[in-house]
Amino acid sequence: MMVIRDATLADVSPLARLWFDAWQDAHAAILPEALRRIRTLENFSERLLAALGDVRVAVDSAGATLGFCIVDGDELSQLFLSAAARGTGVAAALVADAETRMAGSGVGTAWLACAIGNDRAARFYEKCGWRCQGNMTSRLPVPGGIFELEVWRYEKMLRPAREGSAVPGASSPDR
Ligand SMILES: CC(C)(COP(=O)(O)OP(=O)(O)OC[C@H]1O[C@@H](n2cnc3c(N)ncnc32)[C@H](O)[C@@H]1OP(=O)(O)O)[C@@H](O)C(=O)NCCC(=O)NCCS
Repeated sequence: MMVIRDATLADVSPLARLWFDAWQDAHAAILPEALRRIRTLENFSERLLAALGDVRVAVDSAGATLGFCIVDGDELSQLFLSAAARGTGVAAALVADAETRMAGSGVGTAWLACAIGNDRAARFYEKCGWRCQGNMTSRLPVPGGIFELEVWRYEKMLRPAREGSAVPGASSPDR
């Protein structure tokens, strides 16, 4: 059984490892080398700590970390799964949870940035009802400045949250 819950300090270390490995899998080959050098284990730990209140984590019944999602206002800003959790439905559950949280805080249209060439992620977002609106320039905060990166912008119109309605995939409707 899989559960989605708020991340805690104890999750930072396993999540940073997961993020580092999944980033390498999905992005190392398609993003600039300069960005790869910045994306160290330490950098992922720092970013998780900074966003901790907005991190939702998926764990299995043994407590193993399967993946996480970060929402930042109307942006689904991070979604990363362990290699073992890909293709199992965990990603869809994390996205449904994120959409519920955003709709609950009044977001009408959510957006996300996907690295150009991350075809698996693009296919996944399309399956979940997100649509590519074209390219945009992401301004990524990195140590010492801003890294500009051309990305695909995806958007999805969310269904307004209704009090008391059950939303598939959401494990914590009170957040
Ligand atoms: C992106 C991610 C969250 C998607 O979750 P997932 O569990 O792998 O998604 P699914 O398996 O449900 O869907 C992926 C789809 O892409 C397809 N696919 C796999 N490899 C592909 C490729 N190289 N090109 C195109 N499509 C591909 C799969 O067949 C599947 O489609 P289908 O269900 O129609 O067969 C997950 O793969 C992941 O964490 N990847 C590494 C990190 C990452 O890229 N994060 C997103 C950053 S924007």
